[in-house]
Amino acid sequence: MIHPQWWRDAVIYQIYPRSFMDANGDGMGDLAGVTERLDYLAALGVDALWLSPFYRSPQCDAGYDVADYRDVDPLFGTLDDFDRMLAGAHERGMKVIVDLVPNHTSSEHVWFRQALASPSGSPERARYMFREGRGEHGELPPNNWQSIFGGPAWTRIDDGQWYLHMFDTGQPDLDWRNPEVREEFENVLRFWLGRGVDGFRVDVAHGMIKQPDLPDWDGEQVMVEGGNRGPMWDQDEVHDIYRRWHRVLAEYGDDRMMVAEAWLKPERVIRYIRPDEMQQAFNFDYLMAHWKADELRNVIDRSIASSSEVGATTTWVMSNHDGVRHASRLGLSDPGARPQKIGAEDEQPDEALGLRRARAIIMLTLALPGSAYLYQGEELGLPDHTTMPDRYRQDPGFLRTGGEDGGRDGCRVPLPWRADAPAFGFSDGAAAEPWLPQPVSYARYAVDIQQDAPDSTLSLYRRLLALRRDYNLGRGMLVWHVSPRDDVMRVSNGDITVVLNLGSAPVALPEGQVIAHSLPEAAGGRELAGNAAVWLLS
Ligand code: GLC
Repeated sequence: MIHPQWWRDAVIYQIYPRSFMDANGDGMGDLAGVTERLDYLAALGVDALWLSPFYRSPQCDAGYDVADYRDVDPLFGTLDDFDRMLAGAHERGMKVIVDLVPNHTSSEHVWFRQALASPSGSPERARYMFREGRGEHGELPPNNWQSIFGGPAWTRIDDGQWYLHMFDTGQPDLDWRNPEVREEFENVLRFWLGRGVDGFRVDVAHGMIKQPDLPDWDGEQVMVEGGNRGPMWDQDEVHDIYRRWHRVLAEYGDDRMMVAEAWLKPERVIRYIRPDEMQQAFNFDYLMAHWKADELRNVIDRSIASSSEVGATTTWVMSNHDGVRHASRLGLSDPGARPQKIGAEDEQPDEALGLRRARAIIMLTLALPGSAYLYQGEELGLPDHTTMPDRYRQDPGFLRTGGEDGGRDGCRVPLPWRADAPAFGFSDGAAAEPWLPQPVSYARYAVDIQQDAPDSTLSLYRRLLALRRDYNLGRGMLVWHVSPRDDVMRVSNGDITVVLNLGSAPVALPEGQVIAHSLPEAAGGRELAGNAAVWLLS
């Protein structure tokens, strides 16, 4: 029987619906495409799927600007398509979690339209963060906050008031101190829970409550020592919201969950996963660790210790739709660099080295206790499109900064399913152009050529996921071993010992039968080459 708290050791696969599979041939992925590929996902061996937004949206931030939280955008299909996808996933034993975007709506949401059509001080405006400007005629923004996507976080409307948007102008922030906002979202949760979803990924979970007086902030807002800082983030009151949501989920049993996207330091992140709040939070520290044994080990120990302080398990993440894929990052001359974008003018990753390291790091990741998140395509070893011409880029961060920043498009490129088909089989039937161009190299990564190749990255992922399940690694405990060198890690979880060689010189393997290898089977004998890993059975 599946444990009700299934998420504690689950491997959860992130689907970016725009780029997973396009069933209707219009160049944009869709829910019917996900349904078509459920057998592929079940064969991969993941426990659950997380779908990035597919709701009605003008798509100014690829769907993270929601105009109707209770409907599917025609780009992706219909609610019936959603129900079919959900039922199909459940039939195959996979859970499904959906993305909830509560910090802001789209500017095309009916509430925001009503707010614009209503006078200042009206209840319609009170659902958002409207304020008078500063300066003699209110011509200056109410404070100096910057949008994460660049430029001021305020936009002025015709009658002179300003509204806050921590992201794009098309993403006005809601006022979460307004009870009407809280009630509406509790009902949105019920809407999806009632349809049968198993949980929610909560977008910008640390952003919903702002310090009441909206003071100026002269510090950095983002990524200060690995976390966000300032009066717009991580206010204590935000936890009231999650305590309420916890109870809403409990109305549907004890097997529904929430995972927080909160870019904060670990000691602050764990406050979101206290027993009466959310169940999980993304562990971005793991994603941000450098290619160094001591740093990885520290992050792993700290992550496990801090989440167990609140009775939760940790999550391991290497890639998502917001930054360069790890197969590309790890091929840079500084494998600890985390650019949001790699463009033609930037240093190009060493693709073979990046892939080799990506295959090695997944051997560590999937041996760790807790839960792991995979980003679609990483099971193929997929790199970013690192030479995408700027004219194709759609990321609002890129557009708002005149190309200086943002540009997350490179990690969002449609998946290659068939090496020799138009759009590499991403679009069924018609020869529509995919919404973002795919690099020619994607032919090498296509599912059809990896499917039956025993040494492919896809086969490696399948094997590791099956072994992880057989040996119950998600529920295990780590024991570290003295390592022969400081660029080699040796750690056991139950019967499995992982040896990860982060250096370039080979290292002798300890005793034990090699049951998985990041390099083709023939490699090595009792020596492990550099940038490689094995699982040994003791
Ligand atoms: C989250 C999402 C990102 C989005 C932003 C605004 O960070 O992951 O894709 O742009 O929130 O909703």
